[in-house]
Amino acid sequence: MEQKTLEISHLSVSFSSWRGTFTPVNDVSLEVRAGEIVGLVGESGCGKSMTARAVMGLIRAPGKVTGGRITLCGKDLLGLSEKEMSRLRGAELSMVFQDPMTSLNPVVPVGRQVEETILLHRQVSREEARKQAAEIFEEVGIPEAEKRIRCYPHELSGGLRQRVMIAMAMVCRPRLLIADEPTTALDVIVEAQILQLMRRMRDQGTSILFISHNLGAVAQLCDYACVMYAGQIVEQAEICTLFDHPAHPYTRGLLGAVASLHRRGETLDTIRGSVPALNRLPAGCSFAPRCDLCDERCMRETPAMTSAGAGHPVRCFHAGEEAPV
Ligand SMILES: Nc1ncnc2c1ncn2[C@@H]1O[C@H](COP(=O)(O)OP(=O)(O)OP(=O)(O)O)[C@@H](O)[C@H]1O
Ligand SMILES: [Mg+2]
Repeated sequence: MEQKTLEISHLSVSFSSWRGTFTPVNDVSLEVRAGEIVGLVGESGCGKSMTARAVMGLIRAPGKVTGGRITLCGKDLLGLSEKEMSRLRGAELSMVFQDPMTSLNPVVPVGRQVEETILLHRQVSREEARKQAAEIFEEVGIPEAEKRIRCYPHELSGGLRQRVMIAMAMVCRPRLLIADEPTTALDVIVEAQILQLMRRMRDQGTSILFISHNLGAVAQLCDYACVMYAGQIVEQAEICTLFDHPAHPYTRGLLGAVASLHRRGETLDTIRGSVPALNRLPAGCSFAPRCDLCDERCMRETPAMTSAGAGHPVRCFHAGEEAPV
């Protein structure tokens, strides 16, 4: 049987406040198998980072995991204590956060921060940790690693900071890396280098959940992708199937918006409207108010996951139908 590195089933995360309860992660199921890179895409605010934080055990009150199961190589993560979880984080399970500046300590040199991660998880001397930190800096392509190791985060460019984050996430060779928008603030050259680095890690045995707005990067890098909308996965498929035969109108909209950027002179195909507030979701399908295929049933009933083909679940009553002209 193919080994599953990460398996999320029916995960829900809710926040309750005086303004009501909202559920940024609503019955999400996905898996990352050994040796795979899986993309998680969707518009801003759809719950991608919140899903990642739930896997890392980093949902803070008033948010909480209200249902579902998360396993890492068969181990039930939601059943672990905070102490057991912190032993896993950085060792078997790592995350590169969306904003490296807020995740690095501004008053500690970057090399030292990587050393501390090593010392926390491995029984090695300070000197050995220093050596391993220098090696991982070289490995992630930080030029003049010996010099950069002594720099503070603000002394490095955005690309180098992102590499430091990746070095820190990779140094203990985790089973799973969650990379949350790792290339968003970078120029295309640095982005290509970071994507190359992710491929190398995958080849060395780390499975990756790659969160991104950038469909181009997802197409280049991922084996499989999940599309998220308003807290739910609306479509999942192998990457070629998703790009060649998208079945959900939302996925088609996302791909159409990218494709039209390449057709100069024509109007930009965008998805009309915007993601609804999660505490005021419409009845029925959350995408219905923005969808050209929407009918009376979509406004009333929430679609369950159905199959658009082998290994291709989709959450839509009109999956695969063409929009009327
Ligand atoms: N600490 C928090 N407390 C309450 N609500 C939050 C908190 N963090 C995020 N949210 C809300 O949860 C929802 C999902 O946010 P999340 O950060 O997961 O989105 P995302 O898909 O990662 O978006 P982006 O692409 O902009 O990073 C959003 O509506 C956001 O406003
Ligand atoms: Mg995010």
